[in-house]
Order: sequence, then structure tokens, then C-alpha cells
Amino acid sequence: MLSLVEAFIGFFSIIRFRISKFGFRILSRRWAMRTASFVLIAAAAFAAPAFSADAPTGVTNIFRPLSTPAQAIREVSLLVLAICAGIFLVVGGLLAYTIVRFRWRPGDEGHEPPQIYGSNQLEFAWTVIPIVTVFVLFLATARTIYDVQSAIPPADALNVTVVGHQWWWEIRYPDLGIVTANELHVPMSGPDKARPTFLKLESADVVHSFWVPQLAGKTDVIPNRENRMWIEPTQSGTYVGNCAEYCGMQHAHMLLRVIVHSPGDFEKWTAAQQQPPVDDPQARAGRDVFFATACINCHTVGETKARGTFGPDLTHLMSRETLGAGTVPNTAEKLRAWVRDPQTIKEGCNMPNMQLTDDELNQIVAYLLSLK
Ligand code: CUA
Repeated sequence: MLSLVEAFIGFFSIIRFRISKFGFRILSRRWAMRTASFVLIAAAAFAAPAFSADAPTGVTNIFRPLSTPAQAIREVSLLVLAICAGIFLVVGGLLAYTIVRFRWRPGDEGHEPPQIYGSNQLEFAWTVIPIVTVFVLFLATARTIYDVQSAIPPADALNVTVVGHQWWWEIRYPDLGIVTANELHVPMSGPDKARPTFLKLESADVVHSFWVPQLAGKTDVIPNRENRMWIEPTQSGTYVGNCAEYCGMQHAHMLLRVIVHSPGDFEKWTAAQQQPPVDDPQARAGRDVFFATACINCHTVGETKARGTFGPDLTHLMSRETLGAGTVPNTAEKLRAWVRDPQTIKEGCNMPNMQLTDDELNQIVAYLLSLK
């Protein structure tokens, strides 16, 4: 493919375009070849990861959907790409033909080519063909939008409410009594049993956008409004997504993980999340410091007096893979750095430096590490 395009560009640069009146040579062959090769190699290097990954844990590949609505979107986008490629070939081909066929030749000085005005056939063709094309694209797109948006949740669908915050995702399972953050756990759908997840999207502050490319299209998350979408993944694994609407300073650190479990594993995860928080006697000192500071104004730890809702629920904090919505891995060392001063890790985030002493810091971190 690459060499084909290179040959195509090379062919036209040999012609050495000249605009007769100005005697102006636009391209030299060698320059054109070098530039074209450089652009193509650079494009291939950037595009390669998008086409090479095939596992959900690899680089997110928008051309490899693994969920029902994403599959439907892929089909309509391939149709659009095919039609646009056809138009490009026709227009590009006619342009190339004209440039070659009617190029300047010696002896062309001093007279104009024949001037033609008005052609009913031509005008009819370039009015009707685009209208028909746009109409076909409109119908195909409208049908897919309708199919995706009108899906009715089956009785055993999983219902999840996702709330966008600056800059993290609150994830609530109202029917299961689970609250977590930044990691959406859902069951997988198999050929024998569909188990879709229906999401209600809300925002606590500004406009965000929920996007996990391999699972579904983007849906905006808008304050004072409830948007809905659904996913039906057909392969287990971790799918990476991101906030797709600029929402402030740390918009880029508002990552989202969707962990798709085989049915048995999902039940296990649910059961673990429904447990009350671990009460480790060795972490009690830290718990008392935690309860005595402003931490509890923003964070909830289930069944305790910590009932804040500005920040992520910490009941099972250590079951999550990352801190700060994908900013750093959730390890003891990073957790300590985060609690000491979150601003060094995620500048501008709403969690302040609590000015803890080293002792308080150690105790609080020991308590948080016990929240498995
Ligand atoms: Cu939230 Cu960008």
C-alpha cells in the first residue's frame, strides 16, 4: 500500500508542473520523493499502534470494537469511509487526468483554450449525485443511531450511574449497593446470555464526556442533565477509556477503566465490594487520625462516620488499580506521596495538602492500605 502511494506521488512529481504564464516550476522530482517518503513513514509509524493491538488490554484500537454498540458504529463508519474513498478516487482521478492531459506544451503561448459556458448535463450531475450520496449517508447513520438509542434494557441488565467530577469518575451500582471510583466493573455477554450494562451519566460540576472506544461511542456528561448509554462487551479484560471533553486543568488525568469479568468473576467482585470495610486492629490508630481530620468531609468509608461525597469512596480503596483517576499506580509508596501532597502528583486537583505530620501520615496510610 505504502509503495503504491509513493509510486503515485513520484509519478506526478516527474511531470514537473509548470504554470505557463509565470514560467514557475513547482516541484522537483527528488524533493517531492523525499518529502513524500518522510510523510508516509511518519504517518505509518504513528498509525501502526492503532492497527496492531488486538487485545483489550493493549493500545485502544477504535477499529476493533468488542461490544455491541461499538460494532454497529464501526459498520456505519466503514460505509462512510468507503463512500468517501470512492468520491476521493473519482475527484482525484479526474483532477490528475486533467493536469496531465491539458498540461502546458511548447507552442501554447499566445492563445487561450476554448471557453465553454453552461452545460445542463454537468450541472444536473453535480447537483443530483451529491444529494443522493448525502441522503444514503444520512439514512445509514440515522438507522444506527436509532438502533443504539432505542435499545430497551432487559430485565437482568446491570444498572450503573456514572458521575463525572473534576477530575475523576464516581461509579454507583444502585441495585447492588456498591460505590466505587474510576473503575467500572461489568459482566461479559456471551453468545448464550446477553448481560448488557445500562449507564446513567451525570455530572457534579462541568461538562465531561464518557468514552471507552472499544465499547461504545462518546456520550457527553452534562450538569443538570441525565444522559444514557449502554455497553455489551463480548470479551473479558480491561478496557481503557478517557474523559473526551476538555473539563479543566487535569482533563488528561481523568482516565477510566472498564473491567469486564466472566459471569462467575463478576459475582465474586460484587460480593467483595458489598463487604463492610476491613477493621484491622493494627490500623485503628490511623483510622482515628483519619476520622479526626477533614478527610471525612470529602470521603466515605462504608458503615463509619466518614460520609463525605466530594471525593472518591474509600471503602475498598486498595481493590483499585490506580490513584487520581489513572494518574499513578495504586501502590503503598504512591499512596503515601498522594496523601502527603496530592498537588505534587495531580496539580490543581480538589484534594488539598492536609499538612499532616510524618506520624499522622504513616498512620493514615496504614489505615488506607488496610481498606482492601
Ligand atoms: Cu472530564 Cu475532561
